[in-house]
Amino acid sequence: MSRSLPTESGKSRILFVSPAAHLGGAERCLLDFVWAVRALPDPPRVRVLSLAQGPLVAELEALGSEVRVLPLPAPLANLGEAGLGRASGTLRLLLGAAASTAFLARLAREVRTFSPHVLHTNGMKAHLLAGALASRGARHVVHLHDFASSRRLATAVLPWLARRGTRFVANSRAVAQDFRALAPHGDVKVVYNAIDTDRFCPGAFEPDWLAQRAGLAPSGDSCVSFGLVATYAKWKGHHLFIEAAQRLLAGHPHASARFYVIGGPIYATGGSQVSAGELLDHIERLGLRGRVGLIPFQLDVARVYRALNVLVHASTAPEPFGRTIVEAMASERPVLVARTGGARELFQDGETALGFESGDASELAAKMAEVLTSADLRRRLGARAREHAVESFSRTRLPGQLAGAFGWSSGTS
Ligand code: GLC
Repeated sequence: MSRSLPTESGKSRILFVSPAAHLGGAERCLLDFVWAVRALPDPPRVRVLSLAQGPLVAELEALGSEVRVLPLPAPLANLGEAGLGRASGTLRLLLGAAASTAFLARLAREVRTFSPHVLHTNGMKAHLLAGALASRGARHVVHLHDFASSRRLATAVLPWLARRGTRFVANSRAVAQDFRALAPHGDVKVVYNAIDTDRFCPGAFEPDWLAQRAGLAPSGDSCVSFGLVATYAKWKGHHLFIEAAQRLLAGHPHASARFYVIGGPIYATGGSQVSAGELLDHIERLGLRGRVGLIPFQLDVARVYRALNVLVHASTAPEPFGRTIVEAMASERPVLVARTGGARELFQDGETALGFESGDASELAAKMAEVLTSADLRRRLGARAREHAVESFSRTRLPGQLAGAFGWSSGTS
């Protein structure tokens, strides 16, 4: 991969292809990548091709990026990424693609017309579809947001892409290592998610705002609020969080504590997600009505962290990166982190956050008790967390890193 890309203004072009347009972690990371590329001293022309309509489009436009929407035809759109991992899913993808020749022709035209020097794809469907259409002159950069080895389609597609000289960007060392097991000679670089630490920052504490969103009575300033901010994917550990809340309250019956689950489903496909009804039943069964509230996904997520006292990351399967962890740290919040996957790379245990064994509700409850009972510990962890986030995850470092990862030699890397 020694091809060097043109750096003169207006000559280099980068096309980002996003298979989804909701605002999950991968899409929010894409927004930061687009911001960073536009912040290069000699910025290339940037265009984003979104294969769905959704809130990502407006966010990209707000950044001043060119955006084009080319929605996937229904047979392809309705196939969830989890479904892609099954043989039947692969078959459906191929059949869907075959039935969508008009779409494929338009996609090919989009790529050809823009003629990018760098083609960045942000999810499996884009890796496969746009990757197959990448012209010889373009550097294809596949952004790995998930553990590839657990997805059957990825285990076939990624080694094939690696053989074609594709560059891979992994969101953590854990994800890169997992990829290397599939494609030992693959060209992979780790680029951590980076966040806007001016947006995710300490600020006004508004606990009643959260209570109101959840339809709960105001909690008052002395109440300690714990929050889980996540999509409704099952492995994000919603049930574990609620169970730990019950254990905590059993040990501290008079404690003033609240628990919020903030987020919602993002995939049209079911099966791999929890539902609000299921969570409400669980809350009811554990006798936690009035103590645990559900809040839908909030566009202003920075305000959510500020309104919480503690963020809980409860993933029960290896977390590829875990953006919410660094967002909350930057917001000066203590975070309890399930020690799993790439999430382990984001903090120093006991110093910038507290870790617990993934899936262990009693250890999580014990860590919750530590922060519940010590305002001093919360303050100390929060302050160190902010320092660490600013030092290690501020997005001001991204332009230089992307110049390196994408192959720009504009002197910024
Ligand atoms: C995916 C991963 C998550 C990561 C995000 C951004 O959503 O599951 O861990 O934070 O991508 O890379």
